[in-house]
Amino acid sequence: MVDITDNPPVITIDGPSGSGKGTVARQVAEQLGFRLLDSGSLYRAVALASLNTRTSSEDAFAVAQIALTAPIDFVAHPETGDACVLLGGQDVTLDLRREEVGEQASKIATHVGVRDALLARQRRWCQPPGLVADGRDMGTVVFPDAELKIFLTASAEIRAKRRHKQLIEKGMSANIGSLLADIQKRDDRDYNRPVAPLKAAEDAVCVDSSQLDINQVVTKVLDLADNRL
Ligand code: DC
Repeated sequence: MVDITDNPPVITIDGPSGSGKGTVARQVAEQLGFRLLDSGSLYRAVALASLNTRTSSEDAFAVAQIALTAPIDFVAHPETGDACVLLGGQDVTLDLRREEVGEQASKIATHVGVRDALLARQRRWCQPPGLVADGRDMGTVVFPDAELKIFLTASAEIRAKRRHKQLIEKGMSANIGSLLADIQKRDDRDYNRPVAPLKAAEDAVCVDSSQLDINQVVTKVLDLADNRL
């Protein structure tokens, strides 16, 4: 039996942008009553802080300092209860979803100093009764001993279509061709960077969500969790 006091169970969900891992992770965490770590938001918050201070994504030292010291907090919205990210006390949840911020996040995430600075912050999330962590290196680097590791993929074309639909639903303008090009560029950077590249852990279960809806993926992960936790 897993001792949840000293060693809370962890489920990691890694995969490329737009694979649906954020939504799946949130729903799995809700169903199990576990904490949720959206590590992409942490990278995006550092990226936003670097954009706000006009720090170049290439200045590895300065960006690592931001990653170490940026006043980033995750809180529940006082009225809706939704997860919110605060930067210096200001709610930046919506800002973090901007394409420009995602692009900057992918660039600063290539620096080892940034990744090291965020490692301890991420591990602190692991508290009883358990954790669902989503990102790129949750199963390979941050929580290598996780009880269940999922690697969630979908074709770049399907991911661009999903992103397009999301933006249109939010009343934002979007061009599917440029979204696809952005996704391919970001994939290339995430999969091929020398430090903690996006890849499935050897013991991960790979799930291709191209032909599945979110509920089907959530059910699959919960079934797997049932057997492992
Ligand atoms: O999941 P996301 O799109 O919100 O992540 C934004 C960027 O942050 C992504 O391009 C790569 C980086 N990232 C990372 O390198 N490692 C993580 N664990 C999470 C995100």
